[in-house]
Amino acid sequence: MRPDLIGGEGYLRNCWYVAGRSEDFGRELTALTMLEEQIVIYRDTQGKAIALEDACPHRKLPLSRGTIEGDHVVCGYHGLTFDCRGECVIAPTQLDNPPRRAAVQSYPAEDRWGFLWLWMGDPEQADRARSSTSRTSTIRRGARRKRARWRWPVITSTSPTTCWTPAMWPGCI
Ligand code: FES
Repeated sequence: MRPDLIGGEGYLRNCWYVAGRSEDFGRELTALTMLEEQIVIYRDTQGKAIALEDACPHRKLPLSRGTIEGDHVVCGYHGLTFDCRGECVIAPTQLDNPPRRAAVQSYPAEDRWGFLWLWMGDPEQADRARSSTSRTSTIRRGARRKRARWRWPVITSTSPTTCWTPAMWPGCI
């Protein structure tokens, strides 16, 4: 196992994790814990899933206790407002100059195969990992051969003890 793939807590970091069924996430703030991190998930006005650290940088109130305004999430305590990248875009006491350092972590999120997946590692590596692990191979099923796309190596469920390796792209069986 490459040590750079493992987080400080012993979790695999640079891989996609299932957050839940896609249909269970909508235009409300949903809190969940993944790899011991508090995350809030909601959908923007286009239906895209947004996943942010669930702790306001001001006083650490969970953002999941706030509200959604358009594509943004508003902290329920003093009203700091964050965009889908986790950057503060509105501060009620600094309307002309929102504090850029008051940001929360954002997680790449993607709907696929009816599930919502979160990338829990380095965001810069999310797309690269996705493209580099997709391959075309041939599998034999019964008497016929069929083209299939495989995804290696690790796609892991929310439980660190459960691992689906490899996961197969749909339509190949
Ligand atoms: S705790 Fe969120 S704005 Fe103060």
